[in-house]
Amino acid sequence: MNLTIPDFPARIEIEIASDCNLRCTYCPRHFVNTLKGYIDFHLFEKIIKEAISYPDTILVLHRRGESMLHPEFKKMLELVSGRFKEVQMATNATLLNKDKYEAIVNGLTFLSFSLDTPENFDQTRIPAKYSKVESKILDFLDYNKGRVLTQASMVKTVKTAEEECAKFKSVWTDRVDRVRIYDQHSSDGNFGSLKNPRVIRKPCVMPFYEILVYDSGNVARCNHDWNSDNSASMGDLKKNGIKEIWHGEKYEELRKQQRTLQFDDSVCTRCDCWYPEIGRQGTGETWEKS
Ligand SMILES: C[S@@+](CC[C@H](N)C(=O)[O-])C[C@H]1O[C@@H](n2cnc3c(N)ncnc32)[C@H](O)[C@@H]1O
Ligand code: SF4
Ligand code: SF4
Repeated sequence: MNLTIPDFPARIEIEIASDCNLRCTYCPRHFVNTLKGYIDFHLFEKIIKEAISYPDTILVLHRRGESMLHPEFKKMLELVSGRFKEVQMATNATLLNKDKYEAIVNGLTFLSFSLDTPENFDQTRIPAKYSKVESKILDFLDYNKGRVLTQASMVKTVKTAEEECAKFKSVWTDRVDRVRIYDQHSSDGNFGSLKNPRVIRKPCVMPFYEILVYDSGNVARCNHDWNSDNSASMGDLKKNGIKEIWHGEKYEELRKQQRTLQFDDSVCTRCDCWYPEIGRQGTGETWEKS
């Protein structure tokens, strides 16, 4: 396992909006009370200005909410357009419309549509309607013509039957570049709220690989860190730069804990979702278009 520290994080997740227009039944965002925010455009600009010197950086433009709600969403995509190796985003697709197509095709390299099976969608992705969302996606795919890599994803919860996963795959496999089924990682944003079979703790690569910036500018550890807009934050990008925080004392201490597996970090200590390899937790299923 490569636990060297790159000069700059290889991946930066920027939460454009923590607000959301849906209430998906399995989404832990409802257990964090304060998620109604939008990143300030000047803060976004500051982050991008620093990251631009590292064009190999992978940008991810979503986290605990729906990014397309941001009034300056298109302006942000214009700012990052052509500047980075990869610019990825996931969306609930309810706000996908022609007005955004050009900005998306020029600004993103990868777009994931978060869905469910046609039968379950209206009960889980409340109050969205499957038929409307599906036709929005099909219209976009027609415009896109393969320029942005696309994915359809669903969350497999404790209630999801195998046949439902197979059905989802069969609906989307010829339409998008990748179909992905995520295993539900927690029921309420807290570790241990679902039974996780992984018992042998391993160092997690995330503190050596990426940072996550909440819409407030607070830096969190990874996509499993739902509620660190407080003393658990790794830093504040309103006050400091990415490199300063990445090479700062808090990160050094967290990496030491990962290397030695001697934890007292308020988030990582309790974690049951660590990443033993970059991008791989060994959960869920993915099918690529052949
Ligand atoms: C939190 S959402 C934010 C982006 C956007 N609102 C969306 O739905 O794509 C990011 C991804 O997390 C997935 N997700 C939500 N709750 C989850 C859970 N408990 N376990 C695993 N993935 C989850 C969503 O389906 C989506 O694909
Ligand atoms: S999964 Fe996405 S769309 Fe659904 S509630 Fe969570 S953030 Fe909102
Ligand atoms: S150990 Fe868990 S909480 Fe900590 S960085 Fe890794 S995945 Fe995130």
